[in-house]
Amino acid sequence: MSVAATTTHPLSLVVLISGRGSNLGAIIERIEDGELPARIVAVVSNRPAAAGLELARTAGIETRVVDHTAFSGRDAFDSELMACIDAFRPDYVVMAGFMRILTDAFIDHYRYRMLNIHPSLLPAYRGLDTHARVLAAGERWHGASVHFVTGELDGGPVLLQARVPVLAGDEVERLAARVLEQEHYIYPLALRWLAQGRVRFDAGGLWFDDAPLQHPLRLEALTL
Ligand code: GRF
Repeated sequence: MSVAATTTHPLSLVVLISGRGSNLGAIIERIEDGELPARIVAVVSNRPAAAGLELARTAGIETRVVDHTAFSGRDAFDSELMACIDAFRPDYVVMAGFMRILTDAFIDHYRYRMLNIHPSLLPAYRGLDTHARVLAAGERWHGASVHFVTGELDGGPVLLQARVPVLAGDEVERLAARVLEQEHYIYPLALRWLAQGRVRFDAGGLWFDDAPLQHPLRLEALTL
C-alpha cells in the first residue's frame, strides 16, 4: 500500500537543510497561511551555522544539527541522521538545499517518502552549478524540479516542474533568483498535493490523481 494512502492529515515532515533555507521559509509560510495542511516536526541541518535553523526556531519548530564533520564517514553520518529523523516519525523527509550525497542504506530507508528540489529542468543539468551551466550552454529555458529521491543522484521521478526563460544579459545571480522564485511556489504546492492524497509513489511508479504520471507536471512561470 502506498504511503500517501495511509497518511493521516496533516502531513508530518522533517526538513533537511544545509544553508540559507529559503525553500524551508516558503514551506513554513504556506503552512502558516493555511494553504498547506502539514506540520514540520523538525528541521535538521548538517551544518551548525545554516541560516535556515534560525528561520525554523523563529517559527517555533524543533531543530537538530547532525554535523557531518564529526563523523568518520558517510555510513556513520547517515545512520546518525536516520536515527535523528526517525525520532520524529515523519510521513515524509523533505530535502531543501541539503548538500550531502546520501548512502544507499539511507535512501532505501526513506524509499517512496523522500523529496528534493533541484534547480534545473530534470533530467537536464543534474548535479551542481546548474545556473552557470545553463548560461554557458546558451539554453533558452531553465527551471526547477520537485522529485522523489532514489539511488540515482537527482534522478528520481519528477512530480512537478516550473519553467522560466533565460533572458538576454542574464548572469548567474539574476537567473538563480528567477528560478528560486518558482521553487518557492512549486515545493509547497507539491507537498500540498501529497497531503491531499493526490500523489502516490510506490513500486507501481508515480501516480497523480489516480493516473500514472508519464511526464512531470509543469507550470510556466506566471511572471512571464
Ligand atoms: C535551491 O536552489 C535548491 O533548488 C537547491 O539548493 C538551493 C537551496 O536554497 N537544492 P535554500 O537553502 O532553500 O534557500
